[in-house]
Amino acid sequence: MNQLEQYFEQNQQRLMHKYQHYFDIYDRYFSRFRNKPITIVEIGVSHGGSLQMWKEYFGPQATIWGIDIDPRCKTMEEANIHVLIGSQEDPAFLKTVYDQTGPIDILIDDGGHTQDQQRISFENLFQHIQPNGVYLCEDTHTSYWNIYGGGHKRQGSFTEYAKNLIDLINAHHSEQASLQVTEFTKTANTIHFYDSVIVIEKTPRPAPKPKMTGKPSFDATPSKKNLVEKLEMHFLLKTNKILQMMGLRGFAINRMIDLCSKN
Ligand SMILES: C[S@@+](CC[C@H](N)C(=O)[O-])C[C@H]1O[C@@H](n2cnc3c(N)ncnc32)[C@H](O)[C@@H]1O
Repeated sequence: MNQLEQYFEQNQQRLMHKYQHYFDIYDRYFSRFRNKPITIVEIGVSHGGSLQMWKEYFGPQATIWGIDIDPRCKTMEEANIHVLIGSQEDPAFLKTVYDQTGPIDILIDDGGHTQDQQRISFENLFQHIQPNGVYLCEDTHTSYWNIYGGGHKRQGSFTEYAKNLIDLINAHHSEQASLQVTEFTKTANTIHFYDSVIVIEKTPRPAPKPKMTGKPSFDATPSKKNLVEKLEMHFLLKTNKILQMMGLRGFAINRMIDLCSKN
């Protein structure tokens, strides 16, 4: 049991409500920030228990910000804990958050858990995460709950939205106009999907460059394509380009790779 879970189990302070398997996930991504002068924002304050847990876990140099739509949450403020009242679904409010918090190291979305709330918060706050910071959205099982706007592969669910971010991480390699490099491509390093939790870690990422080192183990001088092979390659490339544009499966891929290895 890590220290966060221990704190949770022994909690005599303000009320807190978490799934037990979250504590390992938190510790995996957050431990490197402990005892550093960082800024944490948690959407969803409720009775204030998790804000107190973060304060204890990250230490006295951390500044903790809570966001909640319920004005009663303002009373959860104490040393190093601040609370902003507003809706995570309101872009105008979210634009004011950065003015108060400055750059954010860790953002935890534990707010209302509807699909629009999770997406709108991400779209407005991800840009304010520090270059090596972490964005964690929890209770994403609501992506599968009708009452929260979810459903298996339902359009607009936050999980479906986040699956598309995988494409953006790989966008430097795209051959198609439908997938372009964005700010997300340049700043997000990894996305992790867990039961009920999605974690995105940031790192500045220039376009990746392949490199070779070491000595060859055998003669790898490529042989030459004959005329028939050149025609075959041309045909396969064109056909597969059309299939690619239509989003259909590739055709004779192993043969194309064989032909590509020849000059
Ligand atoms: C699950 S509770 C937060 C629990 C808290 N983080 C904890 O671990 O103890 C969810 C909170 O989100 C707040 N909330 C609901 N809709 C919201 C919205 N649109 N914007 C901001 N907060 C919202 C609720 O008022 C509630 O306090």
